[in-house]
Amino acid sequence: MLLKVSVFIIFAIFKSQAALDPCRGVVEGKNYVMNPRGCSWFFSCENRTDPQEGKCPHDLHFNVQSQSCSYPENVFPRCTLDDDLIANTPTKCPTNNDMRLVPHPFECSNYTLCWQRNWQNLKCPDDRPHFSIFDMDCNTEFLADCKAVDRFCGSVELEQFEANPQGCDDFVMCSECENNYKLHNFQCLPGFKFNKGNKTCLGENDFECHVKESLAFDLPPRPFTTDCSEVTTLRTHHPGDCQYYFYCTSTGSMLAKCGDGENFDYEDAECKVNGVCHPNINSTFEAEKIKIERKITNNIPRIDLN
Ligand SMILES: *[C@@H]1O[C@H](CO)[C@@H](O)[C@H](O)[C@H]1NC(C)=O
Ligand SMILES: *[C@@H]1O[C@H](CO)[C@@H](O)[C@H](O)[C@H]1NC(C)=O
Ligand SMILES: *[C@@H]1O[C@H](CO)[C@@H](O)[C@H](O)[C@H]1NC(C)=O
Ligand SMILES: *[C@@H]1O[C@H](CO)[C@@H](O)[C@H](O)[C@H]1NC(C)=O
Repeated sequence: MLLKVSVFIIFAIFKSQAALDPCRGVVEGKNYVMNPRGCSWFFSCENRTDPQEGKCPHDLHFNVQSQSCSYPENVFPRCTLDDDLIANTPTKCPTNNDMRLVPHPFECSNYTLCWQRNWQNLKCPDDRPHFSIFDMDCNTEFLADCKAVDRFCGSVELEQFEANPQGCDDFVMCSECENNYKLHNFQCLPGFKFNKGNKTCLGENDFECHVKESLAFDLPPRPFTTDCSEVTTLRTHHPGDCQYYFYCTSTGSMLAKCGDGENFDYEDAECKVNGVCHPNINSTFEAEKIKIERKITNNIPRIDLN
């Protein structure tokens, strides 16, 4: 539980940094500042009124002291942001009723909507092909900075067959090559399914495969999260659908749905039969419109490989 919470804390810090001014307090000659999104990321404050994000090339880490991109072992104090995010990302639906989006353990394009003990596997659209655990939404490959293979392979034994957590027809194996994880996919022969206990493909009639089928139900309206920094109540309305609302906590927002026949009443900030919808709710609302506009700079700090 604690581990899970920390993902949201990091997420929340990023949101508020993006909403606030990452360049506050920047001193002359130190135009690049750290970015809670990950160890390779930075903000460029060259134009203080227009902060832009960037990422060091390859796997170099941003080094705020030397204002450079350097090998991780040369950055003091060591940056552990990426590792925290990778280690703390849940790979399965929570067992409670919370509505959640969960990234696929090793496929960057796929994610799962967990909802009241059901789930639905989803795939990102072509124009935003990777799921981002920062936005909890699909984004470009660059901005999503997915690292799904690292996350998965960091949690299983290497060179061992592992079940595909979301299917029984295939299985995977992780190996390590020059400090990078590589994921290999395998397919059982027709009529066989991968058995977790034996770590081998067995006749599908010999055992029951326990990956649950996804249930078909409507996707809740986007956005799936909201910015809680200005919200003073425990719950707040969803901008596009009166049946939905967000819980706001100090660490982020959580989408929830009112009971059948109830609406989220904007004055009382709770679900009610005959609840009066927030006047700004617009059912043709497009989520894209309230997304944080990310600006990317090509201007990266100098590269220091010494
Ligand atoms: C800084 O960014 C603002 C907003 O994009 C822009 O209007 C301004 O011209 C920029 N200043 C410089 C010096 O580039
Ligand atoms: C990703 O999603 C697609 C479309 O739903 C599906 O066909 C594919 O098997 C998924 N990949 C994995 C590894 O689960
Ligand atoms: C596979 O494992 C199950 C227990 O998980 C065992 O009962 C079965 O005999 C094993 N089958 C083979 C072919 O090893
Ligand atoms: C609802 O949103 C759409 C698209 O954002 C806009 O065209 C429309 O005018 C809005 N309607 C109202 C009543 O605000």
